[in-house]
Amino acid sequence: MSGSASRYPFTPYPDGWYYIAASKDLAPGEVKPLRCLGRDLVLFRSGSGEAVVFDAHCPHLGAHLGVGGKVEGDSLRCPFHGWRFGAEDGSCVEVPYRTRGRLPNAGLRRWRVDERSGLILVWHSDAGTEPDWHMRDFDEYESDAWLGYVTRAWKIRMHVQELAENVPDRAHFQVVHGVPAVPDTPIRIDGPVYYQTTQIPGEGGQDWVIARQELWGLGLIWLYSGGEPEVLFVVATTPIDEEYCEVTQLLLVKDEWGTGEIPGETLGRIDAIFDQTEADVPIWENKVYRERPLLVEDDGPLPELRRWARQFYPEQRQA
Ligand code: FES
Ligand SMILES: [Fe+2]
Repeated sequence: MSGSASRYPFTPYPDGWYYIAASKDLAPGEVKPLRCLGRDLVLFRSGSGEAVVFDAHCPHLGAHLGVGGKVEGDSLRCPFHGWRFGAEDGSCVEVPYRTRGRLPNAGLRRWRVDERSGLILVWHSDAGTEPDWHMRDFDEYESDAWLGYVTRAWKIRMHVQELAENVPDRAHFQVVHGVPAVPDTPIRIDGPVYYQTTQIPGEGGQDWVIARQELWGLGLIWLYSGGEPEVLFVVATTPIDEEYCEVTQLLLVKDEWGTGEIPGETLGRIDAIFDQTEADVPIWENKVYRERPLLVEDDGPLPELRRWARQFYPEQRQA
């Protein structure tokens, strides 16, 4: 057992959609090796433009299709002996040197992929169940009024749930992120989505809204902030293995300038936003998970978030 197995009392791979690549980083015909969810996978874009994910290792003699594999139309050819696998279901469609016998009735496991708002997402379920929800579209990505994504990524020693727990944890906003007071955090839960408004009550009933957050499962945290600059970003957390997650922050910024480009000064402010995410990293990497935390009344809706999160752990759902 690795260290993290004792750090957290649940599977490192809860059910849900996980980010694996940005759409713009996968051109037609491109092939990428992936290491995530405790597995080796291959991601490619087929000739018809679809993003496809297979298990990485060839059923023949085990080559990694993500290292030297070639896209041919709607199929992927292995770099070792040239067997070809159809994008549709991963089955073997050609053994190029075969002169007799049948094609082997074998193939590569194909993963459910959803590509929206510039994100390539893969569905994971420990029990192998099909997705019963999808992340919504964020139209700002397609809109000319918004620029980006601007991206920063980290490899962090923690469980994917830590990032989700950061959202209701309103007391830490003041200590870690320099928010001037402990905000109010009204929430709404709708199936796999947790909505929160993070706001500081002001004079005369006017709240100062810091952020609106939407959690689509544990791996996709969207945040809108109407500050300077106006930004919409997703913090996408994907478990790599039992110990580490890859965290990618992809940020859209409202084009206030009409130039189609982000001025240097604003890039500096965006860096400061990324630095805020980074400020949590040493805490996440070294904390333990308290199943029964010692909470005070002002700690925020962490119990509600944990109750919501149970749906992503089938073993807890049945309990
Ligand atoms: S290992 Fe893939 S074709 Fe032989
Ligand atoms: Fe934080």
